[in-house]
Amino acid sequence: MSIHPDFTPSGKLQFGVFFQGVNSGTVWKLPQSGSQTDFQSFRRVAQTAERGLFAAFFLGEGLRLREHLGRIHELDVAGRPDAQTMLAALASVTTRIGLVATQNTTYNDPADLAHRLASLDLLSGGRAAWNVVTTDNAWTGANFRRGGYLAHADRYRHAEAFVEAALEIWDSWRPGALASDARGSTTARRWLAPDSVRPVRREGQHYTVDYEPRLPRSAQGRPVLFQAGDSPEGRDFAARRADVIFSAHPGFEDAVEFRRDLVSRTLAAGRRPESLKIMPASEFVLAETPAAAREKLAWLRELQIGPQQAIAYLEQFWGRPLGGYDPAGPLPDVDPAVETTSETRGSGFHGAKARELAASWRAEASEKGWSILEFVRQRNARASRSFVGSYSEVADRLAEYARVGAVDGFNISPWLVPSGLDDIVERLVPELQSRGVYPAEYTGTTLREHLGLELPATSWA
Ligand SMILES: Cc1cc2nc3c(=O)[nH]c(=O)nc-3n(C[C@H](O)[C@H](O)[C@H](O)COP(=O)(O)O)c2cc1C
Repeated sequence: MSIHPDFTPSGKLQFGVFFQGVNSGTVWKLPQSGSQTDFQSFRRVAQTAERGLFAAFFLGEGLRLREHLGRIHELDVAGRPDAQTMLAALASVTTRIGLVATQNTTYNDPADLAHRLASLDLLSGGRAAWNVVTTDNAWTGANFRRGGYLAHADRYRHAEAFVEAALEIWDSWRPGALASDARGSTTARRWLAPDSVRPVRREGQHYTVDYEPRLPRSAQGRPVLFQAGDSPEGRDFAARRADVIFSAHPGFEDAVEFRRDLVSRTLAAGRRPESLKIMPASEFVLAETPAAAREKLAWLRELQIGPQQAIAYLEQFWGRPLGGYDPAGPLPDVDPAVETTSETRGSGFHGAKARELAASWRAEASEKGWSILEFVRQRNARASRSFVGSYSEVADRLAEYARVGAVDGFNISPWLVPSGLDDIVERLVPELQSRGVYPAEYTGTTLREHLGLELPATSWA
């Protein structure tokens, strides 16, 4: 199968690890569940990932706790330390793995964020990346001076201007401008060669930059740019600007379709399609045999979705309290209180047509004889990003992704912290290595090198 005549698959896979914080995929109540906020958990996960030659350690961002019906909503993300602080600490206990911070363009300011990311890139020796998001969590804005004022299209226009400003800032110091670069520190008369910093002046609809950038370029030129956002505007934005997409399309057919779409968009943007990597979100449930893996999956789903979580899950779509319904009974017979789910503050469900959805779910659950609890577990399983099977079976499946070039790797969310990567590193990685689709060692020191990305172009002669 050829995905696109103008696209050549690398035939390789990279792994990233997404330390998520608490949500509906996290198992926090087993004896072996560790802290979700203690540095030692982050350290252990990052060091395990590095042992497994992972390209990246990835953190998401939620600037406000998600709420639903006026209550904090645990099905969604809770308990995420600031990414840059955490990644800076992790930089000092790791040596190779990339460090990816999700930071939104809606509530940050470009010069400030560009400086902080450049700082992380310098102190980690060229391992930093920025996952650019616009944030669909409009309520977040209530916590900021400027409020949640940007409509969807406007958010992406702003994001583009924001990223352009950051790129200009990162290109504002002449390559080799420092005495400690090629000029030789003993003979140089100045630490910074004259005329080596260009001011950045930009006026945008939502920001102003009038700035002498404060830092030289890093070992990888500038931070790598990730992007996460799935609308047509988000995909075009990625095609123009990103080095890597953190996608929501791990299923094989879906991943192939997504790649095909992005190849077209990247070509339309005048770029080589191979210069944009794709790493979907994923979860792994692995065991010695296929049957044992299926058993493990059932056990895992029970831990992930209990009776309260099942009710809370439905409440997001119904837009009304459903505490009076028995999780072991049928789906609620009342209609949702809302036409669409945009009023809920749980993320990921915006814009679903609540009444239509409720009717179709009721019909499906009744046909299959599922209770609320069973329905939500099944839905979670179906909608999830899971690879379930024996080590060798899953390795075969992943090798097929590599062969056709459906993805460039996977951003893995361990459901258990901090030991959730252990079997992936000890059992799955060697299977992939023996199939020739996974690195046998780190061949470079920067994230850009791990991902096979070229050094960014510079506007300096
Ligand atoms: C896989 C994936 C992960 C995301 N992670 C985050 C996140 O951690 N924080 C956040 O604010 N938004 C996150 N987003 C959403 C982005 O904010 C995105 O910009 C938003 O969905 C609006 O863009 P869209 O309409 O193009 O999807 C994520 C999106 C995807 C697809």
